[in-house]
Amino acid sequence: MKQKWWQKEIIYQIYPRSFYDSNNDGIGDIKGITQKLDYLKELGITMIWICPIYKSPMVDNGYDISDYLDVNNEFGSIEDLNELLSKAKEIGIKVILDLVINHTSDEHYWFQEALKNPSSTYRDYYIIKEGINGNPPNNWRSIFGGSVWTKLPNEDKYYLHVFDKKQPDLNFENPELRQAIYKMINTWLDKGLAGFRIDSITFLKKDQGFESLPADGNDNLVTCKYKTRNQPGIEKFLHELKRETFDKYDCVTVGEAPGVKYDELSDFIGEDGYFSMIFDFKYADIDVESGSDWFKRTNWTTEEFKKLIYNSQLAIQKVGWGANFIENHDQPRALSKYIKDEKYQNFFGGSALAMMYFFLRGTPFIYQGQELGMTNFNRQSIDEFNDISSIDNYYRSIDEGFSKEEALNFVNLRSRDNTRTPFPWDNSKNGGFTKGLPWLPLTEEYPQINAAEQLNSNKSLFNFYKKLIDLRNNSEYQEVFINGEFQPITHDINENIISYYRQKDNKTIQVIVNLSNENSHIKLGTDKYKIILNNYEDVNAKLNEISLKPYEAITLELM
Ligand code: NOJ
Ligand code: CA
Repeated sequence: MKQKWWQKEIIYQIYPRSFYDSNNDGIGDIKGITQKLDYLKELGITMIWICPIYKSPMVDNGYDISDYLDVNNEFGSIEDLNELLSKAKEIGIKVILDLVINHTSDEHYWFQEALKNPSSTYRDYYIIKEGINGNPPNNWRSIFGGSVWTKLPNEDKYYLHVFDKKQPDLNFENPELRQAIYKMINTWLDKGLAGFRIDSITFLKKDQGFESLPADGNDNLVTCKYKTRNQPGIEKFLHELKRETFDKYDCVTVGEAPGVKYDELSDFIGEDGYFSMIFDFKYADIDVESGSDWFKRTNWTTEEFKKLIYNSQLAIQKVGWGANFIENHDQPRALSKYIKDEKYQNFFGGSALAMMYFFLRGTPFIYQGQELGMTNFNRQSIDEFNDISSIDNYYRSIDEGFSKEEALNFVNLRSRDNTRTPFPWDNSKNGGFTKGLPWLPLTEEYPQINAAEQLNSNKSLFNFYKKLIDLRNNSEYQEVFINGEFQPITHDINENIISYYRQKDNKTIQVIVNLSNENSHIKLGTDKYKIILNNYEDVNAKLNEISLKPYEAITLELM
C-alpha cells in the first residue's frame, strides 16, 4: 500500500458535550476544547475527531442536524470553532468533524418545507411513501425502536427514518439532494478541516422495493437492516460522493460502515476505495448478537475475541488500512466490557487492552477518558438515562418478556451513556468539568480516576498511553509500528494470550498480552530479544520462556 499522510496519525475522539464546560452552564463546549488542547498535546495525539457540533435540537445529541453550516448555541459559535481550528493548527493538532448525511433533524429547513408543501422540491429530499390501509408502508423496525415510518400530519403519507422519528432519512436517489450535500461538505473542507468521520454511511441506499419481511420480535416488526444497510447500488452513491468532495482535497475519511463484509472491503478501503479507513464493529459488538438488541447477550470467550481481531486485521491488511478502537460514544467502557474480572478493571486491565490494540496495524483511536481507565456508570432506574437508544432497549427488553431488573441490567451493560459522562479533570466538585450542574452526572470514581491525578503519576494509565504513542510515532520503531506487516501467532499458544508480530525490513516486534486473570506463559521463537514496553515492574523470563501474570502485557523487539 502506498504511504498516506494519515497513516501516521493518532486520533482522539471528543464528545463535546462532556469534555470541558468553559462557561459553567453544565454543557461542554468548543471553547472548552480549545482550553484543553494542551492536555491533548501532552498525551501526544496528532488529530482530534469532534462529535457533531452543528445546530441541532439534540434529540440524538447532535446526530440530528437542523443546520449543517451553523454551530449549536450550547457549543458556542462559528468564531469559536475558527479559533479552535487555528489554535489546534498552531500546536500541530489536526481536526476532523463528524459528517452526518444519512439523515437530518426534522427541524431542518428542508424537512420543514417538505412538510408544509407537497409540491416543494424539498419533498423529494426525503423518503415519503403512501400508507397501506391506514398503516405504514411496511413493517421495518428503526434502529432506535418502533416503526421506521412516521405519519405526516394531515396526509396518509409516511416518512422514513432508520433512526429516531426526529431523524428523517435523506433521499439519495435524488440528484439535487446529492448536489446540495456535496456543496455543504466542500464548504467545510474549504475551511481547512483535515477530513471527516462519516456517520452511518452504509445506510445511504435503501432497497427500493420497500417490502415487508417476516417479523423478528414481539413488536411484529423486523430490523430494517436487511433492506437499508449496505444495499446493492450503494457503490454509485459512495463513488460519486468521493469524486465530488473528498477527492478534491487531500483529506482523511473514516467511515462508520456497519454491515460491510470482509470480501467487500476493497470497495470501501482499497486503492480506489470510498474511504481512507473504516471501523470494524465485529469485535466491538462481541458481547451482543446485534449492536441494537442489547437483550441478546452472548457468552463470548477471549479466544473468540482474539480470532475476531486476527481476522479483522488480516482482512484489512489484504486491501487497505483500518481504524482501531476499543471505545467510542456508542459503546460501553472497554474496561467494563472486555475485562471480565472486576479486580483487574484497573491499570493492569487497561494497559493490557491498550497495548493489545494500539500496536495493531492501522490508525489508533482513543476515546476521551479511555486513557484514564474510566469504567461504566451503573444506574438504578431507567429515568436516569439520557440516551434514546437506552430507553428504547429497556422497553423492548420488557416487551420481549424480561423483567424490569433484567432490562435495567442489559441497559447498564450497554448504554451509550456509559461513555458520555463528563470528563473528570481533577478531584474537585464535578471533577472540574463544570462549576454548574453537569448535564449528565459524573461517574462516582472521579475523585480517584481523573486527569490531574494521572498526569502526576508515573505509573498511571495516562502515562502508559503516552509511552504507546511515543513508541508508535516518535521512536526508532516508528516504521515497523506504522508500516510493519501484521502476523498473528496462532500455534502453541494459550487461548487467553493475544500475541502478534509486526515486521518491516530487518525489524521484528512481538506483542504479547495475557488477557485473563490467570498466570500463564509463552515460548518465544528466540531467546534474543529486547523488552520495549511492559506493564508490570519486571518481566519474568528464562531463556525463551516468559511467565505472564494476570493481564500482563509485553512488547519485545526480536533480534
Ligand atoms: C451512529 C452514531 O455514532 C450514533 O451516535 C448515532 O446515534 C447514529 N449513528 C445516528 O446518527
Ligand atoms: Ca458550556
